[in-house]
Amino acid sequence: MGAVRYRAVKGTRDLLPPESERFADAEATARRVFGSYGYGEARTPCLEATDLFARSVGETTDLVHKEMYTFLDRKGRSLTLRPENTAGVVRAVIENGLATGPMPLRLWYAGPQFRYERPQAARYREFRQIGAELFGVPGPAAEVELLTMLFAFLGALGFKALTAALNSVGTARSRETFGKALKAYLEPRSSGFGEDDRRKLAENPLRLFDSKDPAVRAALEGSPRTVEFLDAESRRHHDDVRRLLAGARIPFRDEPSLVRGLDYYTRTVFEVVSADLGAQDAILGGGRYDNLVESLGGPPLPAIGFAIGEDRLLQAAPPPAPSRALLLVLPQGPEDLDEALRLAGDLRSGVSGAVEVDLLARGFKKGMARGNALFEEASALGLDREKIYAVLMGPREREEGTVTVKRLASGDQETIPRSGVAGWFEGRT
Ligand code: HAM
Repeated sequence: MGAVRYRAVKGTRDLLPPESERFADAEATARRVFGSYGYGEARTPCLEATDLFARSVGETTDLVHKEMYTFLDRKGRSLTLRPENTAGVVRAVIENGLATGPMPLRLWYAGPQFRYERPQAARYREFRQIGAELFGVPGPAAEVELLTMLFAFLGALGFKALTAALNSVGTARSRETFGKALKAYLEPRSSGFGEDDRRKLAENPLRLFDSKDPAVRAALEGSPRTVEFLDAESRRHHDDVRRLLAGARIPFRDEPSLVRGLDYYTRTVFEVVSADLGAQDAILGGGRYDNLVESLGGPPLPAIGFAIGEDRLLQAAPPPAPSRALLLVLPQGPEDLDEALRLAGDLRSGVSGAVEVDLLARGFKKGMARGNALFEEASALGLDREKIYAVLMGPREREEGTVTVKRLASGDQETIPRSGVAGWFEGRT
C-alpha cells in the first residue's frame, strides 16, 4: 500500500448515491418547471477572465476581495473559477449576440461555483447553484414571472412555508446617496469596528450589511434604510412589484435592511432564508441588475435573476417520497446467469426503476440477504418498499421454464411462466 492518502480538497465534497440522486432530481425538476415557463438552459464555462467578476460583482465586495479562486494560466492571463454564474451568463449573452436578439430572453442554469470561504455547515468552497436570468423586461411583470416560477419550483420540491424577503436598492445614483448617508451615520459609531469593516466603511458602506460582527450589527440598528433614498421611479416600481406580487399570492415580506452582497443590483432584491438551516443562511438570493449588460459592453438591457444554493436547498428540503422500484434478479448458480441477464434485459424496458442482476451468482440465500438489506434502507435510497422484488432463477425454474417472484414487503412468492414475467410486472412497478 502506498503511503499517500488523497482526500477531497478542503471545502469540497463527493456527491455519491443516494445523495447524488437528490441533486439530479432537483435539477430535473428545475428543467421541467423552468422549461414550462420558456426558459432554456445555459451552460457557461467554470473559468472566466478575473476582470469579468471584478467589474460585475464589484471590486470591494467580499466575494471579489477575498473569496475568489484566482490564478495565472501558463500564458500569464488572470483567470478565476466562477464564484457565481450571472456574470458568465451576461458575458455569454453579449458575446453570442443574444443581447440584441428577440426579447424577453429567458435562461436557466445549474452547476458548480467556487468561493474561498470558511467551510462550515451548508457552506462549501465548491457548491452548486440552480439559477435563472430574465433579460429585456424593465417592468414589474419580470419580478412577478421570476418569483412565481421560483415558488413553483420550491413547491415542486415540497417546500411549503417559505417567504421571500424583499427590498429595493434603487438606482446606482440613489444607492450612492444612500451610501453617503449611511457612512455619515456610521462614522461616529465605528470605533468598535474591525479593520475589514473600516475598509468597507471607507470604500463601499453598503457592504457593511454583509458583516456578521455584532459591533457592526448594533451600529446598523436605526441606520438609514435604502427605501428612504429611492428616486420617484424606483419607488413606483417597488410599489408596483409589491402590489403585483401580493395579487399573485407570492409569499413575501419587506426587509428594509436587505442589500445583498453583490454590487450589480438595481431596484428589486430578494432572498429566501430557511429556519431549517440553523444559521441565518439564505437558500437563495436574487434581484434586478438593469445596468450590468451595458457595463459589460452590451446594449442597455434590463435584467433580473436568482440563484439557489442547491446544497443548502437539499439540506432544508423535505425528504422526497421514495418512489423507485427495484427488481433483483437472482441466479442460483453460474449456469443460471445467462438466462438471468437475458430476462433482466427484457424487464428493463417495461419496469420504471432498476433491474439488477446478481452478477456474482452467489445463490438465493446471499441474494436475498442483500435484498433484505436494501429493503431496510429503502427510504434513504429513494426506493418504494412496496415495489422491491426478487426474481429467483434456479435449476427448478430452468427445468420448468418459469421464474419465482418474491415481493419483499409481504414475503409472498409466486412461480410464473418465464414468458409471462414482463406482463406480471406491468402495473406493479
Ligand atoms: P449569492 O447570494 O451570492 O447570489 O448566492 C446565491 C446562493 O448561493 C446563496 O443564497 C446560497 O444559498 C448559495 N451559496 C453561496 N455561497 C455558498 C457557499 N459557500 N456554500 C453553499 N452555498 C452557497 C448570486 O450568486 C447571484 N448570482 C444570484 C443572482 C442571479 N442574482 C441575479 N441573478
